[in-house]
Formats: sequence, structure tokens, C-alpha cells
Amino acid sequence: MPLERLIYVSRARGSAADDLLTVSEIVGASAANNRRDDVTGILLAHQGRFLQAVEGRGAALERLMARIEADPRHTQIEVLERRVIAERQFPYWEMAHGHAPEGAPSFDTLDAKGAFAVLSAAAELAGAPEFS
Ligand SMILES: Cc1cc2nc3c(=O)[nH]c(=O)nc-3n(C[C@H](O)[C@H](O)[C@H](O)COP(=O)(O)O)c2cc1C
Repeated sequence: MPLERLIYVSRARGSAADDLLTVSEIVGASAANNRRDDVTGILLAHQGRFLQAVEGRGAALERLMARIEADPRHTQIEVLERRVIAERQFPYWEMAHGHAPEGAPSFDTLDAKGAFAVLSAAAELAGAPEFS
């Protein structure tokens, strides 16, 4: 089964996406799952929205997305991209995470290419896995 990357954007309920503690909690609670399932990625919070890339085998991503879609901490989940990849762009088990870089575009209007660029820039900037 090939390696795939899925990128989605969602709207946080309450103040989840403005609160780095919440993001850290989500990531902290995800680490064991992601390690078990060989899933890696990056999660950004910006202006009340989450932007996340997850990478792994198709079946693992299906299971993860079913859990993520059922999570009441966010809503309006919109998949921007799902594609087969040759290698991981975000190889962090515990999900790199933080706020979007200064001057990042609104997540409202991102297309797949724009989302990938924002996530890659954040990962590059951070050296990962945790930044603010
Ligand atoms: C924005 C966001 C990103 C998340 N990312 C992950 C993730 O990468 N891996 C994961 O296992 N859970 C993630 N979750 C949490 C899942 O929705 C779910 O709560 C969790 O996987 C359940 O884990 P458990 O079965 O160990 O209790 C995320 C939740 C939100 C709101």
C-alpha cells in the first residue's frame, strides 16, 4: 500500500485554534496513536482554523480521518488534497505544531498548493516538532 499525504482545513470550536495549549494537548494525546500507526505530519492553528497534513499508509489515514472528523473540537472539515507520495515531507511522529508564521495567508482561501506551501514553510522555520 503506497504512502499518502492528506491535507485538510477545519474551523475550531470555541477558542481551540487560538490556544496553543489546546493544540499541544491534541498533539500530545495523538503521539502514541501516530507512532503506532506510522502516521506523521504537522498541525497549524491560525485565526480560528486548523490546517493539518497527515502522512501514512492509506488504511491508517482512513482510520485517523474517521476519528478526526468525529472530534467535537472542530467542524467544517474540508480535505484540500489527498495524494500518493514518494517520501514524507513532514516526518515528525508527534506532529509538528504551532501557530502559523507571521504574515501567513488566511486559511479560508487556501488551495492545496497554498496549504502545502504554508505547512512546509512552518516546518522549515521550526525545525519541528514544537514551535510557536
Ligand atoms: C485539529 C485536530 C488534529 C488532530 N490530529 C490527530 C492526530 O494526528 N492523530 C490522532 O491520533 N488524533 C488526532 N486528533 C484527535 C482525534 O480527533 C481523536 O480525539 C484521537 O485520535 C482519539 O484518540 P484515542 O482513541 O487514543 O482516545 C486531532 C484532533 C483535532 C481536533
